Amino acid sequence: MRVAILTLSDSGWRGERQHDGSGEAIRERVAQLDAAVVEYALLPDEKDMIAAKLKEWADSGRVDVILTTGGTGLSPRDFTPEATMMVIDRIVPGMAEAMRAESIRKTPRGMLSRGVAGVRGKCLVVNLPGSPKAVRECLDVILPALPHAVEIMRGDARDCARSGRA
Ligand code: MTE
Repeated sequence: MRVAILTLSDSGWRGERQHDGSGEAIRERVAQLDAAVVEYALLPDEKDMIAAKLKEWADSGRVDVILTTGGTGLSPRDFTPEATMMVIDRIVPGMAEAMRAESIRKTPRGMLSRGVAGVRGKCLVVNLPGSPKAVRECLDVILPALPHAVEIMRGDARDCARSGRA
């Protein structure tokens, strides 16, 4: 599985945050899978820039899953879900529903993330919230389903029922 990480942060973009803790949290969790991080970028909360990067990676044929972090909330410059909706062909509501359901069990603030998930071509895009803690909590929910999601997108899953038991 080839994974790309896109961190959305105005302060990170301006160089005010030395360490991208959320991007790092994604790397740590992804390392638990048979996966390689093949792309990484940090962008400001600019809708068109985010959409262009998602499109570039999804259409490159080099990325199976794009995990974004940040920009999913209610602040005036949170536009990651809107940028994602601009580029995906089909939404995968269950992934966002599952993450939000688990997040709300951890904190009522979990309902403030507007993240979406969807497919563009053969690439899955998933929005995660911005804090390292939230990234870990949300990834723990979706990681078990990611390998099969990629299999299906590639057309490799001959037997859903059997691979579901694995
Ligand atoms: N989800 C989980 N699992 N754990 C959290 O701590 N924080 C919330 C929410 N989702 C949180 C969470 C908070 S405080 C906010 S404001 C929203 O995600 C949006 O975060 P973002 O704007 O950084 O993407």
